Amino acid sequence: MAAKIISGTQVAAEIREELKERVKKLNEKGVTPALAVVLVGEDPASVSYVTAKAKGAEEIGMHEETVRLPADTPEEEVLKTVDKLNKDPKFHGILVQLPLPKHVGTDKVINYISPEKDVDAFHPVNVGKLLRGEPCPLPCTPHGVQQLLVRSGYDPAGKHVVICGRSNIVGKPLAAILMQKKKGANATVTVCHTGTKDLASFSRQADIVVAAMGSPKAITADMVRDGAVVIDVGVNRVEDKTREKGFRLVGDADFDAIKEKAEAITPVPGGVGPMTVTMLLMNTVEAAEIRAGITS
Ligand code: GUN
Repeated sequence: MAAKIISGTQVAAEIREELKERVKKLNEKGVTPALAVVLVGEDPASVSYVTAKAKGAEEIGMHEETVRLPADTPEEEVLKTVDKLNKDPKFHGILVQLPLPKHVGTDKVINYISPEKDVDAFHPVNVGKLLRGEPCPLPCTPHGVQQLLVRSGYDPAGKHVVICGRSNIVGKPLAAILMQKKKGANATVTVCHTGTKDLASFSRQADIVVAAMGSPKAITADMVRDGAVVIDVGVNRVEDKTREKGFRLVGDADFDAIKEKAEAITPVPGGVGPMTVTMLLMNTVEAAEIRAGITS
């Protein structure tokens, strides 16, 4: 039987409606949640992500400002920009779009963002809190994956989740989120990576496979057991001359083949992508609520 298609677009729309209500409550207290996005350079994928973030923020009634800096901006100037935003009480959230140009130290910039305004949840203080299970903003893509699973009826509790990929943005924090003894988590988690021998022997044991290795169609149908749930975090541009832009997006999982045997699968695009932006908006609303003394 063909798999259920888990629509991130649909789940994201549901969450954004909830966020609109939370924004209204903040407005009643005289607060408008505000997000500052810093974009250094003009990498096309980054420009497109930043545009989606600005549009999403506007749609739920948030304030958003994108600070655009030229690609050759010295590191010191980028740090000064972050410092200014840290000190500006108008902003509840700051996001510095990655990747940064090579001459700008990514860790240095991330470490400079005030942890209270770190809506990406990349700051070491927030990474540490996450690992310890303390209240903190959750990194957007992994939190989006968790919400997609829970809201589509695939609660990871008690399930074996095999994460393929160990990045700081997806694999590692997703493992930390799903292994917590908390609602919507409490899973057994295996993290596979480039050093894993015989990846398929692990992925075939999974109730839930998360493909997050950044390699087009790396997870094939034979690597997934019948009835598994497959979450595809990959966003790969592959050349396609039939498209106006000259490329199309494909995930890290072989969607067409896997959908014939899996219980459920996320598409690319329209799966995890819309969730990432939505969780960023949620973190910004939450930061505004914390500052306004509203507890959810
Ligand atoms: N570049 C790709 N993904 C992300 C993300 O989640 N946050 C930031 N800041 N940059 C990114």
